[in-house]
Amino acid sequence: MRDLAGFGLGLRPQHFPSILGDDPDVCEGVDWFEIISENFIGVGGPLLRNMRAVAEKFPIVMHGVSMSIGSVDPLDTAYLAGLKALADVVQPKLISDHLCWTGAHGHNMHDLLPLPLTEATVDHVAGRVRHVQDYLGRQILLENTSTYVTFADDEMTEWAFLSEICQRADCGILLDVNNIFVSAFNHGFSASDYLAGLPVNRVQQIHLAGHEHNGDHIIDTHDQPVPLDVLALYEAALDHVGPVPTMIERDGNIPPFADLVAELKGVRAAAERALS
Ligand SMILES: [Fe+2]
Repeated sequence: MRDLAGFGLGLRPQHFPSILGDDPDVCEGVDWFEIISENFIGVGGPLLRNMRAVAEKFPIVMHGVSMSIGSVDPLDTAYLAGLKALADVVQPKLISDHLCWTGAHGHNMHDLLPLPLTEATVDHVAGRVRHVQDYLGRQILLENTSTYVTFADDEMTEWAFLSEICQRADCGILLDVNNIFVSAFNHGFSASDYLAGLPVNRVQQIHLAGHEHNGDHIIDTHDQPVPLDVLALYEAALDHVGPVPTMIERDGNIPPFADLVAELKGVRAAAERALS
């Protein structure tokens, strides 16, 4: 099995026939895959079998959307047990989730909601991350999300908030460059300031994706190719963090697998430009 390095793609079930087919060249340039943890927790049958077949050939990272690390509800022990059991099967190189909350008082909003950027939230989240890491017996990565509102009580920048939590919890960062681009536009902050304020040694994985520009705001949609201005910000990010495993997230208008492989080659070329 190859080590985790280079360039990856989000594993989507409609691509299993291509990835697991007879053509050995179809995955050329793809070094690893990321799975959405929730799609495989507690499932069996062909879905799990196909994913495990991919995992026999490629390194896998696990990416979750349900940890709700910022919520005031207790951590979901059943979810964490499922996550740990899946990790035992998959042996992922990395496990990540989002720096957000997804619900409270037992209600799941199925959305990645923004947190108040305060010292109290830093304390709250860092303690919960430490608890999760103790339970899983390994470090996790937190991903910066796209946001559309801010809180009147915010006390710090988003990058200071992310940095402080990761340092206090001793966790890693999954840096979503498209999310920085989207939030910088929506809130009018400098993406360059964001990159300059990151603890670069904690960035262990990078996400790239497309978005929907609506003139006065941008929505993070993951339904089109990575735009050129996000690729340019990616090159600027690599200038800060150095070579970091990078992947494309595509969740809507999912194209044929070969199209994503071709797009990933463009990402590799951008990284080579940035690091040369
Ligand atoms: Fe992402």
